[in-house]
Amino acid sequence: MAKVDETLKNISIFSECSNKELKAISKLVTQVRVNAGRELIREGEPGREFMIIVDGSATVRRGGSVLAQLGPGDFFGEMAVVAGVPRTATITADTDMVVEALNRREFSSLLDESPKLAKKILVGAVKRLHEIEQTLVK
Ligand code: CMP
Repeated sequence: MAKVDETLKNISIFSECSNKELKAISKLVTQVRVNAGRELIREGEPGREFMIIVDGSATVRRGGSVLAQLGPGDFFGEMAVVAGVPRTATITADTDMVVEALNRREFSSLLDESPKLAKKILVGAVKRLHEIEQTLVK
């Protein structure tokens, strides 16, 4: 348990969480190892998981074009999980990765656990939607 808390403490998205929050969050997350090259999320499919990168990097593509590269501390999969919409992009592991994964129920509990964290995820999702909208306008 102490080890999980240490891992979470070092993830930037959790930097403003209290120890009490971190303890609760550690019960919600499941650490998963992912091999380089694996497709974690496919655009257009329904989504059930939200993930936070502990180690490694991944590329976000929409319609085959690269939207972003994500690394330690970044999260993904929030859009489909929060709104029940199809996945907005495809995400592929560029390297071997370690991620913390949460299903829909766990993600909902995570948002309830920390308002600061919920705000960060909300702001991130809106920025991403804005970026997607910009690519549609071009
Ligand atoms: P979701 O739509 O569930 O699945 C694909 C994910 O890609 C999406 O959630 C976001 O987490 C992520 N994503 C979408 N657009 C961007 C973007 N412009 N930059 C970074 N990540 C994005």
